[in-house]
Amino acid sequence: GRPRDLAGRKIVVSAGGTREAIDPVRFLGNRSTGLQGYALARTAAARGAEVTLVAANVALPDPAGATVVRVESAAQLREAVLAASAGADVVVMAAAVADFRPASRHDVKIKKTDGAPEPIHLTKNPDILAELGELRRAAREATDGLAPVDPAVIVGFAAETHDVLANGQAKLARKGCDLLVVNQVGEGRAFGTPDNAATVLVAGGEPVEVPLGPKEDVADAVWDLVALRLP
Ligand code: C5P
Repeated sequence: GRPRDLAGRKIVVSAGGTREAIDPVRFLGNRSTGLQGYALARTAAARGAEVTLVAANVALPDPAGATVVRVESAAQLREAVLAASAGADVVVMAAAVADFRPASRHDVKIKKTDGAPEPIHLTKNPDILAELGELRRAAREATDGLAPVDPAVIVGFAAETHDVLANGQAKLARKGCDLLVVNQVGEGRAFGTPDNAATVLVAGGEPVEVPLGPKEDVADAVWDLVALRLP
């Protein structure tokens, strides 16, 4: 059985992939299925944590023991993650969040026309992971917050195709997280497959290799590292 080393801990996990509306029927999306995030939520609950799972467009059964909040867009995911993060001990951003969204959403379905199609203009979405790091920094400087966002451990995910260590270390520092789980993509791994392999970059520590195996095993390896960093 699993250790109960997350007992009493409040943990937020985001999973899946956001959809950014173009018009009432179309969206910009990505291939994330939510399998890794759901494995994280399930294993954290099994280790005793009180888990809030913020799920973006995931077609999987609710994990046992987790409270599931369903969202669609990056803006909705941001609202739900920030709300759940007040008073949380750990936040894990496993969701694939759209970096951009259409600058305006058409109120009615865009019609097919004879001429050249209208371009879709994009605008930047906020980086939720970086914002969590900023909020934590602000919470540690303030003294009057009632339920501040001040998790002991913030975990990000990153998919990299090359220079995994160099790109990952830069991202870890830029986003102000404690652990960055880097998936090497492009070898039939990660999206939609039951197995995963990762390098976990650790702020102020040595990287930890997690061998190819079920996403539950990758999840447990992440929780082992998280548990070490909890007060
Ligand atoms: O920069 P990149 O998209 O590779 O970073 C991935 C990490 O950042 C993931 O943990 C993802 O959930 C998070 N992210 C975010 N908000 C965004 C984009 C990514 O929180 N707008």
